[in-house]
Amino acid sequence: MIEAQPHSSSTPRVAAFDRWIRGRFIDLNTELEDLYAARDNRLHVDGVGDHVKATLLEEGRELIVPLIEEGNTDEGFDRAFELLGNVGYYMAACRRHEITEPSRERTSPLVEASTLALHLGASLGTAPRFVTSHMETYNRAVNGVYRTFTHAPAEKLFLDHNTRGAFAYMRAADALGRIHPMGVSHPASLDLLLHARDALRDAYEMNVELGKALDVDDFFFRVRPYYKPYRVGSQEYRGANAGDFAAFNQIDMLLGLCSPTDVSYSQVVVEKFPYLTPDEQRRLHESFRHPNVLDALLAQSEHADEDWYQRHAAAFLEVCEAHGRAAEHHHEDLVVPFIKRPSENIPHDQLAGITASGPPLDVLLRALRGLVDRRLATDRHDIPTRHADIAALRGLVT
Ligand code: HEM
Repeated sequence: MIEAQPHSSSTPRVAAFDRWIRGRFIDLNTELEDLYAARDNRLHVDGVGDHVKATLLEEGRELIVPLIEEGNTDEGFDRAFELLGNVGYYMAACRRHEITEPSRERTSPLVEASTLALHLGASLGTAPRFVTSHMETYNRAVNGVYRTFTHAPAEKLFLDHNTRGAFAYMRAADALGRIHPMGVSHPASLDLLLHARDALRDAYEMNVELGKALDVDDFFFRVRPYYKPYRVGSQEYRGANAGDFAAFNQIDMLLGLCSPTDVSYSQVVVEKFPYLTPDEQRRLHESFRHPNVLDALLAQSEHADEDWYQRHAAAFLEVCEAHGRAAEHHHEDLVVPFIKRPSENIPHDQLAGITASGPPLDVLLRALRGLVDRRLATDRHDIPTRHADIAALRGLVT
């Protein structure tokens, strides 16, 4: 086991909890996962490994109590956000092992952890639970090893790919966000469109690699259950999902494939805000205000014969294709084989909490397919897509 170095601005109590999360906590979770895996029905975790669960619960609690007294002593966003992640990991593990279960309780029995998490969330401006950034872009590595729930290779594989994929999406969003102040006809806008296209191709490649390397059962039974919804105090917060970054929606709206005035779409996006870091929240707010590239190109169609128009419009269409292809792959080659199919073998009453957000799986899948079709600009009449506009633009490119 590695000896974790505390964050540079840590107090001894924060460092002690961080050491536990990065060591003993992972060992205890892994021990429990091995016990579940040895059973005929891996979904039945109730009554299995009770002594290990009691140890996890109590050791975590003992480290959290002194942190409540200490409070958020304002030693910077990174330190407080990392601590919220650590409390969140503990609460999520208790949920996974059914030490807590939101449908059974009206308020979380983890009183001390809830107190600390609520204080931290309120001071940071985020939901008081662990969120995707805790596992990915804010997951500080110590000697090459970042925080995980278990020692399962599938967990590391999943996070490595998600993190790198998220950065590829962020590169694309950053490039697209720089176009509107200069205008799409600016010579540098072509570079930006090509950067965005290449970044989206990288994201796609990363997801293809993940889909091939990840074992379905390991993901479904050992990784995913840690991302379920759980209560903090009396309120239940939805789980963590790999899409909790501004970049995906920035890209959707900056390209013009999804519209901030499409009610079902903006509902999906607005729901995300509390699960983003304040910095990501700001980016997402901005993307609701910015004009989109598709409208800008169509509004200048009188210049379609110009060399710039041909090259920029062709590059724009390639960006849209790259975005649509990655979205389609996410749905057909990640969501379907890793969530939908394994869920089909599970009795109906045990399906609750299978996904991050909680709606019944078929409802969620329909909503996700709607997002894919917007990104592909599919010809659909029940939801708004840019099918006709993309076809019109294609018609202008010779
Ligand atoms: C095994 C791998 C993966 C599986 C099984 C998976 C599954 C899912 C599921 C079930 C949802 C819906 C969440 C909910 O509301 O409950 C979702 C959402 C999302 N995921 Fe993934 N995901 C995977 C990997 C990734 C990766 C690597 C990325 C990108 C780097 C990603 C990006 C997204 C986005 C952007 C959303 C939000 C919905 C949208 O805007 O399309 N996912 N994913």
